[in-house]
Amino acid sequence: MLRRIVPLVIVAGFASNALALDGDPVAGKVVFQRTCQTCHSAEIGINKIGPSLWNVVGRQPAKVPDYAYSETMKLNTTPWTPAALDIYIADPRGDIHGVKMYFKGLPDTKERADVVAYLSTLK
Ligand code: HEC
Repeated sequence: MLRRIVPLVIVAGFASNALALDGDPVAGKVVFQRTCQTCHSAEIGINKIGPSLWNVVGRQPAKVPDYAYSETMKLNTTPWTPAALDIYIADPRGDIHGVKMYFKGLPDTKERADVVAYLSTLK
């Protein structure tokens, strides 16, 4: 786990990743259930309105099989690092213009850090 995160901290800058590292996965699960679960499953192979978020942290966007992503998301090549997830979840449609995630975003920095910490446990 640490071996995977440390290079990210160096590449993406300490400040933004420190947020995700400080997240509380237990609190993040509650945020996930309240906010994301309507559209996303945390289990492998179960797509809802949105793709399964199992093992999303660290992988390339738009890689869940059998999910019809928007053309914009398919063109997105930025891996889902904690920092990239933090930016996307804050304002999904502002971050990647044209995505089909009709979700206004999570304005609360702590809730975003917590939910990303929870997503990191889905492996
Ligand atoms: C109203 C439904 C909805 C809600 C609520 C929602 N999402 Fe999504 N999400 C989607 C859809 C639809 C997509 C596919 C976007 C596309 O293809 O442009 C998506 C895509 C994503 C992706 C990219 C996945 C991939 O495989 O590349 C991530 C990460 C994500 N959502 C995280 C979240 C998180 C975390 C939350 C809660 C804080 C959340 N979403 C809430 C509908 C939703």
